[in-house]
Amino acid sequence: MKTTIDHTIEFVKVKLEGAEAGHDWFHIERVWKLSKKIAEHENCNQLVVELSALLHDIADPKFHNGDETKALTISREFLESEGVEESIIEQVLFVIRNISFKNRSEAPQDLSIELKIVQDADRLDAIGAIGIARTFNFGGFKNNLMYHPDIKPKLTMTKEEYKKSNGTTVNHFYEKLLLLKDLMNTEKGKEIAQERHDYMLGFLDQFYKEWNVD
Ligand code: ADP
Ligand code: NI
Repeated sequence: MKTTIDHTIEFVKVKLEGAEAGHDWFHIERVWKLSKKIAEHENCNQLVVELSALLHDIADPKFHNGDETKALTISREFLESEGVEESIIEQVLFVIRNISFKNRSEAPQDLSIELKIVQDADRLDAIGAIGIARTFNFGGFKNNLMYHPDIKPKLTMTKEEYKKSNGTTVNHFYEKLLLLKDLMNTEKGKEIAQERHDYMLGFLDQFYKEWNVD
């Protein structure tokens, strides 16, 4: 007998066919596994954690003309068709609505533990070796420069500026990736983030060393 989780995996895989490599099924799979790992240390609803992790990027506004409601509509429709109870659906939609880095200033003060877990897992996949790879892939997808010595990071961008930003990929480290370690919600998340953060600092050191041939 297939479970709701099995059906969700099948649904997400089909929906994300052809997605940009940093936001494809394998990103979802990593976030799902990391979420389960973090959840082992927290008192939470396991089903909400897993469904939210699996559905969190089902229709990322970045790839849907900025439409921030599409993911919610698609997820609700899917979960209802699976017969998932309303209180679970609401908790999952709460996570999908509030997980995003760029929307963090608009998120409610009171985050559910399930949101904290999946947000940590999503942020962990944005840092470390995988984070570096995803970021350069996305920069390439946008045809952004990897680096420019005269273009400085913008540390205080509004949400609109952040979305429009066509700065360099190296600047994205300062504008987002290196900030994530201090934004982790859970103890397990903080622990994993520290190692990945240090790895990125080492990468940047080496990058500048190789760039500045003398
Ligand atoms: P969220 O989807 O959580 O709001 P972002 O929009 O910042 O987060 O993007 C998620 C991932 O996409 C980032 O971690 C990064 O890998 C990549 N990305 C987003 N914006 C950029 C950018 N300007 N340059 C390079 N990579 C980016
Ligand atoms: Ni994600």
